[in-house]
Amino acid sequence: MSKADFKGQIPEGSTEAAMLASLDENRMPRHVAIIMDGNGRWARQRRLPRVDGHRAGISAVRETVEAAAQLDIEVLTLYAFSRENWKRPKDEIETLMELLKEFVAAELGTMLKHRIRFNVIGRIHELDPMVQKCLQEAMTLTATGDGLLFNIALSYGGRTEITEAAAAAHRFLCRPENQHRELDETLLSSFLYTSGQPDPDLLIRTSGEMRVSNFLLWQIAYAEIWVTEVLWPDFRRCDLLEALVAFQKRERRYGGLENEGGPSRPTDVLAPSR
Ligand code: FPP
Repeated sequence: MSKADFKGQIPEGSTEAAMLASLDENRMPRHVAIIMDGNGRWARQRRLPRVDGHRAGISAVRETVEAAAQLDIEVLTLYAFSRENWKRPKDEIETLMELLKEFVAAELGTMLKHRIRFNVIGRIHELDPMVQKCLQEAMTLTATGDGLLFNIALSYGGRTEITEAAAAAHRFLCRPENQHRELDETLLSSFLYTSGQPDPDLLIRTSGEMRVSNFLLWQIAYAEIWVTEVLWPDFRRCDLLEALVAFQKRERRYGGLENEGGPSRPTDVLAPSR
């Protein structure tokens, strides 16, 4: 995939083309994280069952993954199922899991073709064994992908992730050979699900809610947040472009001052040594 392919898909003279042209390739976010919200409301507006909203959300997932890969974004993380979502009716959960399996099976070829690396973050062992098997196969088959890293958050909770990382860091520090080490941000980050990945630069939330909903709590410390009223099933390439254009207009200071030799990211931890 390339930006040229992307350009080729966009009608000349359209708003999308103008947004694409206005993007500065050197200031693209490395990591975009998305809270996909509003499937239920989308269905309700059409007097459809809630699960039809989730089904309609699949096209938005497909288009967003493709656009992110074409725009050379390094990491895309989609929040598909939180630990709190286990409280939903059994039927809805089962449909979501079926949709997930169908999505992975249908998109595997595309992911391989475009060298997308598929990855699950969250408590994968809490999912149905058949779903786990399907996800594991997709992760194994795409493991050598050097294009977009596509994280999908499933049975995910930010506080749980931090708690698990703290416990793992504690076990690590208790080993005799690590007695001289101290707990710091780099060490703790290395035990998160996203270890070795850049933190999100941009967090998008659809459907207008102003919440972070226990998503990537550690990693979004310095993320720019962009909320759109668009409901997830209606989210399209042009909405992603709009978010990217808005992101590039923001001034990122990471707690410092403007014109101090440029911003530096304080918490990015790439391939930390344990
Ligand atoms: C939030 O909408 C969305 C979810 C809990 C699930 C997200 C799932 C999908 C987009 C489809 C499946 C995804 C993949 C990757 C196969 P909501 O139900 O909370 O909406 P509401 O707030 O309007 O009720």
